[in-house]
Amino acid sequence: MTQFSIVVPTLNESENIDLLLTRIFALNIPFDKFEVIFVDDGSNDGTPEKIRTWQKYSNIHLIERHGKPDLATSILQGAGAARSDIIVVMDADLSHPHEQLNALVTPILKDQYDVVIGSRYIKGGRTLDWPFYRRLLSRVGGWLARPFCDVSDATSGFFAFRRELAATVSEQAHGYKILLEILMANDSTLRIKEIPICFRDRAYGTSKLSFPHQLAYLQRLLTLAGGKVSRNTAGRFAIVGLLGVVVDTLVFQWMISRDAGLALAHFVSFFFAVSVNYALNSKWAFNEHHTGHLQWLQFSRFLIVGALALLLRGGVLALFVYVGHVPPSLAIFPAIIATAFINYLGSAFYVFPAEKNP
Ligand code: GDD
Repeated sequence: MTQFSIVVPTLNESENIDLLLTRIFALNIPFDKFEVIFVDDGSNDGTPEKIRTWQKYSNIHLIERHGKPDLATSILQGAGAARSDIIVVMDADLSHPHEQLNALVTPILKDQYDVVIGSRYIKGGRTLDWPFYRRLLSRVGGWLARPFCDVSDATSGFFAFRRELAATVSEQAHGYKILLEILMANDSTLRIKEIPICFRDRAYGTSKLSFPHQLAYLQRLLTLAGGKVSRNTAGRFAIVGLLGVVVDTLVFQWMISRDAGLALAHFVSFFFAVSVNYALNSKWAFNEHHTGHLQWLQFSRFLIVGALALLLRGGVLALFVYVGHVPPSLAIFPAIIATAFINYLGSAFYVFPAEKNP
């Protein structure tokens, strides 16, 4: 009976396939105990052809996909096709220690754990040959995920889990964060074990991790944290914000030109701008959560965020005018920019939060 299925996502890994399978077979695990499921996303370097030469072994399988490449959905598809109840995810590029496959699987086989993670960041774990910037990115990615799941390597690509957990993962799961998605979807109910691994940078081929993948990771963390953060809401918020800047600037300049005084001009122009922004944000930028009725809770939260933003804006304004001796008509711009950020996060997480984790 197949005890575990190794899902290996591939995108242009032809130089690594022979080595990977040779190493796995060298472990002498009986053929009927495991299978390897490659999920290829339209490689154009001969990867599928290379895998097919191994299909003379009945436990080697290949799923070929032809849509937009995506790591997370490839892994989920591989898990969906598995013949066993334990899934091991492993990169094709030989960066993961194949000799620790048993150590990943055994605690789940014995029903002691639900997820076992090969971790680079617990005692005994290591990362070899990675350039400094990759180490840093990986570390920062792990730290950012830390508040959501209590593991030290949430972006590890070498882990095992019970197959049924794949069904709990959000449809929004894409890119390089499938482990995090599994952990987040099941929250505190999982029994998780981390074992130290030595990760080595690939010898052949190139990494496919791109800047958009990293941005998507950040965005997903913010959404998982309960904020209605997305390119859509951020884009609309920016447009509304720009309109607010115009209103704010016009009212502020007009009041200053009428000798209204810095503090009064600051309060009145802010009030005008923020009212316009709230109306447009609730009706448009974050409209999925707008019921069409006045929501007192939402409105009072909006006032709290507004008050914080007002304080911050006043502080920045005073700093530029009284310390930096910048004329008020120019100082208003950095003050507005400084508050845009707090306003967006306040709106996304507090005033118009997502109703539940998607
Ligand atoms: N099917 C498919 N589709 N496979 C992909 C895709 C995709 O869009 N993108 C990458 N892969 C495959 C690669 O071919 C490789 O087998 C594996 O996924 C990892 O991709 P790399 O691009 O080589 O990742 P890395 O070396 O930078 O890996 C680091 O980040 C990964 C994501 O967390 C390591 O930390 C890995 O352990 C980790 O999996």
